[in-house]
Amino acid sequence: MNSEDRANSGGAVLETQDLVKQFASVKAINYLSIAIPKQGITSIIGPNGSGKSTLINCLSGTLPIDGGMVIIQGTTMRAILPYHSPSHGVTRTFQEVRLFNQMTVLDNMLVVLTERGVLKSLFERSRSAHQSRAQELLESVGLWEKRRDQAESLSYGQRKLLEVGRALAMDVKIYLFDEPFAGLFPAMLERVSQLLEGLKQQGKSIIFIEHNMDLIRRLSDYTFVLDSGELLAEGPVNEVLDRPEVIEAYLGT
Ligand SMILES: Nc1ncnc2c1ncn2[C@@H]1O[C@H](COP(=O)(O)OP(=O)(O)OP(=O)(O)O)[C@@H](O)[C@H]1O
Ligand SMILES: [Mg+2]
Repeated sequence: MNSEDRANSGGAVLETQDLVKQFASVKAINYLSIAIPKQGITSIIGPNGSGKSTLINCLSGTLPIDGGMVIIQGTTMRAILPYHSPSHGVTRTFQEVRLFNQMTVLDNMLVVLTERGVLKSLFERSRSAHQSRAQELLESVGLWEKRRDQAESLSYGQRKLLEVGRALAMDVKIYLFDEPFAGLFPAMLERVSQLLEGLKQQGKSIIFIEHNMDLIRRLSDYTFVLDSGELLAEGPVNEVLDRPEVIEAYLGT
């Protein structure tokens, strides 16, 4: 079944059609048409610079697109603004973590649990329901002990964990994670794997970018391989990773 058939069968949660994203003369995404399955965990893999982050940036509205379409749960978007994406059922994390550096770990969590705006959230954040949810989420990413620390004092791995925790705080259908495991120690890596599996059990659609082959094989049900902004291969993970063109794309870098 090709991507178009799968989309037409109603199995796609996110689709692109002839998506183009260009930076000066670089076509980071070059007429890409994919349909991401609704169920389970999907990985987006490929060599450095193949367009993985750019794809997630276009799917989440972080970057405007230069051509084609993004279809979110059946709704065609020609322009998605980042602050609209939660209302379209999408949340995401960044490869380069984005936190409120001058705020505490706890406040970084409360801001997403309460009102979107920082100011409005100040009036709401003391509500006990939000406090207990924030505790639960920070515990789930192993950061409750750090709740009073400024976000900027966290290590790279801890910042990654806080970002994952903030994404989990959003009760949406689609979760996009850009290298959520980068810089994590094994125990935390295991914990984040379990959190992603937990989202899958709840029927959410999880899309993640990863370079580690063991994690890709272990976690993903389906995978897309990008190369120079184009689709090199797609399919069930174990089948795709054994294809000669995929092995070559990785060994060739
Ligand atoms: N903001 C930008 N300005 C200019 N060029 C960019 C920008 N973002 C990405 N690119 C270029 O677009 C191409 C795809 O980059 P992208 O970051 O999407 O790759 P990636 O697959 O996520 O790589 P990595 O595995 O290293 O994170 C690269 O050639 C990159 O240099
Ligand atoms: Mg990237």
